Amino acid sequence: MSSTGKQAVYGAPPPSLANVPARAAQCSPLVPGAQGLEEAPDGSLQRIIIAAPPGVLERRFVLAQALRALAPGGELVAMAPKTKGGARLRKELEAFGCQVVETSKQHQRICACIRPDTPRGLDAAIAAGGPQQPPALGLWSQPGLFSWDRPDAGSTLLIPHLGGLSGAGADLGCGAGALALAALASPKVSQLTLIDIDRRAIAAARLNVDDPRAAFLQADLRDPEAPLSGLDFVIMNPPFHLGAAEDRSLGQVFIARAGSMLRKGGVCRLVANVGLPYEAVLKQSFSRVSALGQGHGYKLFEAIR
Ligand SMILES: C[S@@+](CC[C@H](N)C(=O)[O-])C[C@H]1O[C@@H](n2cnc3c(N)ncnc32)[C@H](O)[C@@H]1O
Repeated sequence: MSSTGKQAVYGAPPPSLANVPARAAQCSPLVPGAQGLEEAPDGSLQRIIIAAPPGVLERRFVLAQALRALAPGGELVAMAPKTKGGARLRKELEAFGCQVVETSKQHQRICACIRPDTPRGLDAAIAAGGPQQPPALGLWSQPGLFSWDRPDAGSTLLIPHLGGLSGAGADLGCGAGALALAALASPKVSQLTLIDIDRRAIAAARLNVDDPRAAFLQADLRDPEAPLSGLDFVIMNPPFHLGAAEDRSLGQVFIARAGSMLRKGGVCRLVANVGLPYEAVLKQSFSRVSALGQGHGYKLFEAIR
């Protein structure tokens, strides 16, 4: 965030609820190119408007970072759907020592406050929501990432099917890098690009995947301009939501993008929840699709371009 950017916005507050000035610096980790709120110097912001994320640790991290970055007397406005954290916002801000004015509109709770002279508990909330290595995961991660503190069951099922890959590939929606680590176990893999929209995922993956064959890219794969082409393989556990919002078409977009990034004959191996409608788009984007297995609510595919 530039030092002249005194106003900031986190995420996409509904325009009907918040008047975000055009010059406000975006600081959401889900916007490629945006600089992190973590990087804003202490006391450098006059005002911040936050579309608060749904997870408790992640949300308290963002609120605490915002209070740290605000100048004394600066204004914080945070909002969230009532059932996705909004009902807890007021108490969370009060616990930091804020005097909160709360309103409710369009199923959202909107909390406004002035930064207190001496906010309480910021360091603890920043540590609890910051980068860390959850023991059950054994990798660097951060609250807010997909399955941030334990291995995902779908990815765990896919990992044994990632042996024997070769050439140049990509891990679409890499998260902390669990699938990439499995693929890089094959010495025949010459290069692997880990792509994710989430800056925190890319930062964690950089720490976890310490391999000269790995490259890292924060990018939105909904962008029709595919960032790579002519690949030998793609691996993925495609997303079906981004932030708080479920979006089943995201996985379909990932499948189409995988098809456009592979060379003819290139292979895509993926896992999906059994209920997700991916078969039609797999058939459209690939010449051959076979099931690698199914179980525990997931289905695994191999698709040849
Ligand atoms: C189901 S998670 C899989 C994470 C990791 N590959 C694993 O197996 O543990 C899907 C990932 O896709 C990322 N993602 C969601 N939407 C995206 C988009 N539009 N472009 C790029 N990555 C996206 C998410 O941030 C998330 O890390």
